[in-house]
Amino acid sequence: MKVALLGKGKTGGKVLELLVERCIEHTVFDSTNQPTLEKLKEHDVMICFLSGVVFNQYFQLCLDSKIPLICGSTGFDFPSSLSQELKAKKIKWIYATNFSLGMNLVQQMILIMKEASKIFSDFNFSLHEIHHINKLDAPSGTALSWKLWLDSDVHITSERIGDVTGIHELKLSTPYEEIYLKHSALDRKIFAEGALFAADKILNDKTIAPGLHLFQDVVQRVLNQGTIK
Ligand SMILES: NC(=O)c1ccc[n+]([C@@H]2O[C@H](COP(=O)([O-])OP(=O)(O)OC[C@H]3O[C@@H](n4cnc5c(N)ncnc54)[C@H](OP(=O)(O)O)[C@@H]3O)[C@@H](O)[C@H]2O)c1
Repeated sequence: MKVALLGKGKTGGKVLELLVERCIEHTVFDSTNQPTLEKLKEHDVMICFLSGVVFNQYFQLCLDSKIPLICGSTGFDFPSSLSQELKAKKIKWIYATNFSLGMNLVQQMILIMKEASKIFSDFNFSLHEIHHINKLDAPSGTALSWKLWLDSDVHITSERIGDVTGIHELKLSTPYEEIYLKHSALDRKIFAEGALFAADKILNDKTIAPGLHLFQDVVQRVLNQGTIK
């Protein structure tokens, strides 16, 4: 595959490292080499880690290129008509606000922990997250997603230390036992890995139809393949 990488900053830079390591043909588009329709059309797939504001500027260009897009940009909303438009034009896009593959496994585990209410009468959940000192929001978006998946009024505590990429820990306590679920992000490469996984799927998995797909749904389908029910 030939990849058009839009943005080579903190996250796109990690995608670039993997593209180089894996000898995958690519072009980097950034503020000095801005994408054009002609240049984009030379590629099989686009991977975008531009800021939401900059992605918005190239939104129509990406659409016009008709090339599949893996979109990791955050901080903007897709138009509500986008999915229909992509289907009509037979174009595939996959997006996510968190491209970590591991986070999809975590989601499955949280859905299991959620079942606690079926077997315990006396239990509670608590959630603790730790991030670097430059992170402004607290609790983190990921902690809020965990809470959503747990469908519980779990109490979240936050800590800001050094340059921690991201640690989330969920604790289930009963009077006689404790269960911990912990995810530590060690490197931004987790997002790059996920984006390349998505690029492979969008090009090679014929069961992915044209339209707008959430990355989590794509991964869930892979996880469910061959599951013994
Ligand atoms: N979905 C996920 O899993 C995930 C994970 C992490 C981050 N993100 C999101 O990814 C986005 C990027 O984050 P980041 O921290 O990597 O950003 P960043 O470090 O600021 O990098 C932004 C990139 O955009 C390029 N750029 C800026 N203006 C441009 C223009 N007019 N034309 C073309 N390129 C331009 C920059 O080019 P130069 O290199 O030339 O300056 C740079 O390479 C954010 O929305 C962030 O929230 C998503």
